[in-house]
Amino acid sequence: MKRLSILLGSVFISIVLMVFGFRSFGGHKFNGLVLQEPMKIPPIVMRADSGPVQLDDFRGRLVLLYFGYTSCPDVCPTSLANIKMALNGLTPEESAQVQVIFISVDPARDTPEALGKYVRLFQDNFIGATGTREELDLMTSAFGAKYKINQPDAGGNYSVDHTSFTILIDRNGYYILNFPHGTTSTQMSEDLRYLIENEMPISAQILAGPTYTPVVCAVTLIPSHVDGGEWLYQHHCAQCHGADLAGNPQWQTELADGSHLPPPLDKSGSAWQYSEQDLINIIKEGRNLDKPIHMPAFKSALANWEVKFIVTYMKSKWDINQLNYQHGFMTLTPQATPTLSASPTPTPAAPSP
Ligand code: HEC
Repeated sequence: MKRLSILLGSVFISIVLMVFGFRSFGGHKFNGLVLQEPMKIPPIVMRADSGPVQLDDFRGRLVLLYFGYTSCPDVCPTSLANIKMALNGLTPEESAQVQVIFISVDPARDTPEALGKYVRLFQDNFIGATGTREELDLMTSAFGAKYKINQPDAGGNYSVDHTSFTILIDRNGYYILNFPHGTTSTQMSEDLRYLIENEMPISAQILAGPTYTPVVCAVTLIPSHVDGGEWLYQHHCAQCHGADLAGNPQWQTELADGSHLPPPLDKSGSAWQYSEQDLINIIKEGRNLDKPIHMPAFKSALANWEVKFIVTYMKSKWDINQLNYQHGFMTLTPQATPTLSASPTPTPAAPSP
């Protein structure tokens, strides 16, 4: 039977490994398997000899949870002894922040009293609890744990196969990682110590997601293109549109002949509302060429790649929403951006309703 439960355990662990990945936090590489997404624990009440027990009761502390049964010949005692050793690897102050709960999936034989006696053989503050078959099914499935009560032998004795990992619930009441059977007590202590010392619960860190350096989501501007574009811009465009792309301060005032002074090309203007291709066309073909003040055509002065570099440089001056909008990743009702009445008003590709 021992072989079977270990087998079940290792099959399960390989599944778990596929779903969960190793994750590192602030330089700490967890020995346990960290869930991609922390899991809120359902409020299921179990019974211990001291009364009802709910995981939420232990908010603010770490909980190590283990599913097993007291008649378990091998895996459970080994696991509980290992957990005890892991706690011994901590200072008394540290280990006081960890609550160990053993949940029996064999309520027919394991009464809350029997469980209490059993777990106190390991350490007197361990809790042993169980529930009805339905409660246990809810509880195990919530943690992705499995168990199977085997057929009794002639003497009425039966064994129970069960997943043999140790579940860790953080101070926020989230299931965040588990230790596969075979994790050494030292490895467990290391993870526990990290979680005890770190003020911010891991669930909060995971839920907050990775910290992004402020780069545009999905739109990547190649730095060397931005730099090259800036150089080209300063040589070909800055004299009219300004060294900082802010345009002529009077750009909104229509001149007597209906023409306009050069508008801004940064986020304060409306250049971001054009598609990339339209911008390239304006730069290559010019605009309002018949007006005394106009946008000159650059098709003979600049190569295609130079025009693209300049557009990339302009993009580096837009905000994330403008970039995503221009790229077609999002639609938005443009803010009341002043648009040039003389220029063909760019129609947003897909205005949001
Ligand atoms: C001689 C001055 C001059 C130069 C040099 C010049 N522009 Fe312009 N640009 C203008 C004027 C004037 C307009 C507005 C024309 C109009 O209203 O049709 C304009 C309009 C534009 C627009 C349309 C913006 C909008 O919001 O409608 C873009 C884009 C633009 N220029 C890019 C460039 C780039 C890139 C360069 C350098 C390669 C450049 N311009 C060089 C004068 C200039």
